[in-house]
Amino acid sequence: MGGFDLFDDAFWAKTNNEIYDAFEELRKQPLSYQDDPDRGGYWAAVTHADVTYVSTTPEIFRSAPTVSIGDVPPELGEFLSSMLATDGERHDKLRRIVSQAFTPRQVNSLSEKIAKRAQELVDSVFEMGSFDVDKELATPLPTETISWILGLGPEHYDEIVSAGEVFASATTRDFGAFLQAAQSLMKMIQAVADKRRDHPEDDVISALVNGNVDGESLTQYELSSFFILLIAAGIQTTRHTIEHGMVAFAESPDQLSLLRKDPDIAPRAIEELVRFTTPVRYFRRTTAIETTLGGRQIGEGEKVVIWYTSANFDEEAFDNPRSFNVTRSPNRHVSFGGGGPHFCLGAFLARRELAALFTELASRCEGWEITEKERATSSFSHMYSSLKCSL
Ligand code: HEM
Repeated sequence: MGGFDLFDDAFWAKTNNEIYDAFEELRKQPLSYQDDPDRGGYWAAVTHADVTYVSTTPEIFRSAPTVSIGDVPPELGEFLSSMLATDGERHDKLRRIVSQAFTPRQVNSLSEKIAKRAQELVDSVFEMGSFDVDKELATPLPTETISWILGLGPEHYDEIVSAGEVFASATTRDFGAFLQAAQSLMKMIQAVADKRRDHPEDDVISALVNGNVDGESLTQYELSSFFILLIAAGIQTTRHTIEHGMVAFAESPDQLSLLRKDPDIAPRAIEELVRFTTPVRYFRRTTAIETTLGGRQIGEGEKVVIWYTSANFDEEAFDNPRSFNVTRSPNRHVSFGGGGPHFCLGAFLARRELAALFTELASRCEGWEITEKERATSSFSHMYSSLKCSL
């Protein structure tokens, strides 16, 4: 495949520009097939058109049995049978029920809490002057937001964060660590769910535990699996976007100044930040039938990997895609998925968290300096392994 192994850490150790160049080259070629002796070969969908087509054609490109590149051992299959890796009616049912729990009232009350917490965090980094971005800004807001939804207190934060990290590296072969993290979270969550079943409160977890839609409700197992998905999907992604935002605005002070002068552009600025970051680099689909994609014939049961990280920098879909432009419009990025039934359920929450934090920062200063920066070499998560900042 053009000489690149997209699942080799060495590829992701290259500079961003080298990575963008490699994908640009791949987009010019017909849909390519990558042999992978360990995990089985796969087709690489890299253009914006192919990624959105695959995402919006779930009857052909299925999310089951898993959305990760490697096949999953049966004992993990049950943990991963969350809505992200199910299709058709079963997925529709799960999504219908969980969506009901996010009522406008719940969302508004979460938004108020998010705005208040973002202000406190920004106050505290201004007091520090120099700080570790991950520890002081990027981890607390997403972790606390998901914990509010799940009814978990501060005593659980460390465990939630480390489980999220294990899930984010689930593409590695360390399934034992994955299973252990999932089991221990499941215990923690079931204890809270039991409490809310007997004594409901005015929160999302009570609505989920006790709610039903047209007589349908989640089984105990589906509940735990959904909560684990929230932790896996909701924390790392937002955390990494905050880290990239600190770098992107430090490197483009003119873009921070635009947001500072006109906070009303925040929604557009956040969409651009999410595009520019692309925190989830890819997901996988599996073909239900024989089909064609990018002019190539694909058999039934084959793997297709959709590279969000490439689609978001496709010149056919974006003008000057390598530039960070907070007024970009239109911006049909695929960071929350390329459309279709699995489109990110937490997109509204992620947007609120990011807007609260970056509008607060922009209103308080003209810029900051990144004093230490090291990017991690994961093929799945676009993230830093270390990031320090000085205000
Ligand atoms: C910048 C932050 C985020 C990014 C980039 C992101 C990205 C994604 C992506 C790429 C998908 C899969 C879409 C597809 O397969 O078509 C997804 C699904 C999902 N996300 Fe997010 N996400 C973010 C934040 C969140 C948050 C904060 C939550 C939880 C509150 C969340 C919960 C979910 C859930 C539950 C799904 C599965 C939906 C389904 O299968 O129907 N995400 N997300």
